[in-house]
Amino acid sequence: MLTYNPYEKIAHEYIEKRKIAAKSLYNDVINDPAILRALSELDVIGPSLDVGCGQGSVTAHMPPKRYGIDPSPTMIESAKSNALADYEADFKVAFAENIPFTDGSFSTIVSSLALHYSPNIDECFTEFARALRKNGQLVFTIHHPHQTQAIDIDNKSVTTKKLYGNGERYRFQIDEFEPLWAHHYSKSYLENRLLANGFANIEVRDVAPDKSLYTNLSCNLKEQIMQCIATPPFVLITALKAH
Ligand SMILES: C[S@@+](CC[C@H](N)C(=O)[O-])C[C@H]1O[C@@H](n2cnc3c(N)ncnc32)[C@H](O)[C@@H]1O
Repeated sequence: MLTYNPYEKIAHEYIEKRKIAAKSLYNDVINDPAILRALSELDVIGPSLDVGCGQGSVTAHMPPKRYGIDPSPTMIESAKSNALADYEADFKVAFAENIPFTDGSFSTIVSSLALHYSPNIDECFTEFARALRKNGQLVFTIHHPHQTQAIDIDNKSVTTKKLYGNGERYRFQIDEFEPLWAHHYSKSYLENRLLANGFANIEVRDVAPDKSLYTNLSCNLKEQIMQCIATPPFVLITALKAH
């Protein structure tokens, strides 16, 4: 059973980064709108669970009654104080691989940019299938496998090591933060494991920036945006718990 979450060491910096008024390209501009659009298109209902909820930015937009879990105590503390100010939700310190709720507790499970930190995503899918009701909806985003093939940082230099397997580890750096270990999962592996865990109606979409949002942004950011349009940074996956 997992007991160590490397993300805890950068939790304070991540929370501060997401508080600043200038929007983060990857979270606020690219990822969050894609998740929120999927939730609204699918017309999801509660009770809902946000897995790897961090400080609760996505939890706030989920249907009530809302719950969030994250293995980082610092993240959960921040999520609790944000929720007290703005919306109602219950948060617990826990891993995706061991969800502390009884079978069939949720109609919707959401996970935003957290599952690539799991060394065994199959265990997460088994837990999602257990905690969801029949016809419950799963919506998650994860690092795009093309991106995880390209980035591998050793201590001194950036190299481009290709990852072909499923669950092979890679290290990447979030801006100025320390490099973290994450895990590579190909699209076909994700689809196969979801099917094996009883999910149906599986859709896998690339998450790239919406060009129309960028007309007023600085040149610097525009370059990054063009790069993200050419190589989408994330995939969004939706699936239905069939039985
Ligand atoms: C990039 S942050 C995303 C936080 C939030 N979902 C958001 O979109 O702002 C990744 C989160 O995944 C959490 N995490 C890492 N390993 C996890 C695991 N095995 N199960 C659930 N969450 C995990 C980290 O603690 C961290 O809060």
